[in-house]
Amino acid sequence: MIKKCIFPVAGYGTRFLPATKAMPKEMLPIVNKPLVQYGVEEALASGLDEIGFVTGRGKRAIIDHFDVSYELEHQIAGTDKEKYLAGIREVIQKAKICSTRQPEMKGLGHAILVAELLVGYEPFGVILADDLCLVEEGDDPVMLQLLQLYRRFGKSVVAVQEVPPEEVHKFGVIEAEQLDERLYTVSRMVEKPEPGEAPSRLAVIGRYVLTPDVFEVLRHTPPGKNGEIQITDALSTLAQRGRVLAWKFRGLRFDCGSIDGYVAATNYVYEHIYKKECERP
Ligand code: G1P
Repeated sequence: MIKKCIFPVAGYGTRFLPATKAMPKEMLPIVNKPLVQYGVEEALASGLDEIGFVTGRGKRAIIDHFDVSYELEHQIAGTDKEKYLAGIREVIQKAKICSTRQPEMKGLGHAILVAELLVGYEPFGVILADDLCLVEEGDDPVMLQLLQLYRRFGKSVVAVQEVPPEEVHKFGVIEAEQLDERLYTVSRMVEKPEPGEAPSRLAVIGRYVLTPDVFEVLRHTPPGKNGEIQITDALSTLAQRGRVLAWKFRGLRFDCGSIDGYVAATNYVYEHIYKKECERP
């Protein structure tokens, strides 16, 4: 049974400066809820209740957000404002939270290797909170879609989406053989390919289920794109051993690490989620 979900949250969020000068980018709200809370709610809804943050300097607000604020609780106890805290209270009740720190920004692969301390030798989920994933009402969250495949095949699984050719350079891209409508066996992966180098238009988004053998591979993965240790490179090694699947997920993904994606997510959540919640009696 997979219980753990890792959130690498040490990144600087330079694209959102000055908003992220003193505040973690993961705390930017989509309407009235911080981005990272959407990710943790997705993990919980997928059955992963052991949440591990890989943080860095200036990220305390994330850990505080998932802790009880006694002053606030005391202040609003018995008032009609309590309803605003109901969601996060439920998250705090369900989730077991722990964190470790990534002392240097050496890439996503490095952040995941740092999380080995929290994970041990078990399969685990990884959510990049920047990627907000939403599904239709009644459908399984994207993380749960991946977990179901892990349970069937016992391999690492990455979520992919088809992107236009001019966007492949922003992603890890897979070379793969299609098994059925949405499922692929991955043979190779390239991190942020140069023009002409992309093996396909299937781009990895920020949802992964990883088998623990990835740690040993990461330990031996040299710095790749941008001089960083890339999870894509480690997964490419596992893919060459036939150990990685890709799943063209059902749902929507917003790149909230970019201003355009962030605004699109905000508009979408306001129209399709927030307003409906307000209308409910
Ligand atoms: C990271 C990964 C990349 C992946 C992307 C998904 O890149 O390195 O392989 O496609 O997340 O959002 P980043 O967006 O952090 O540059």
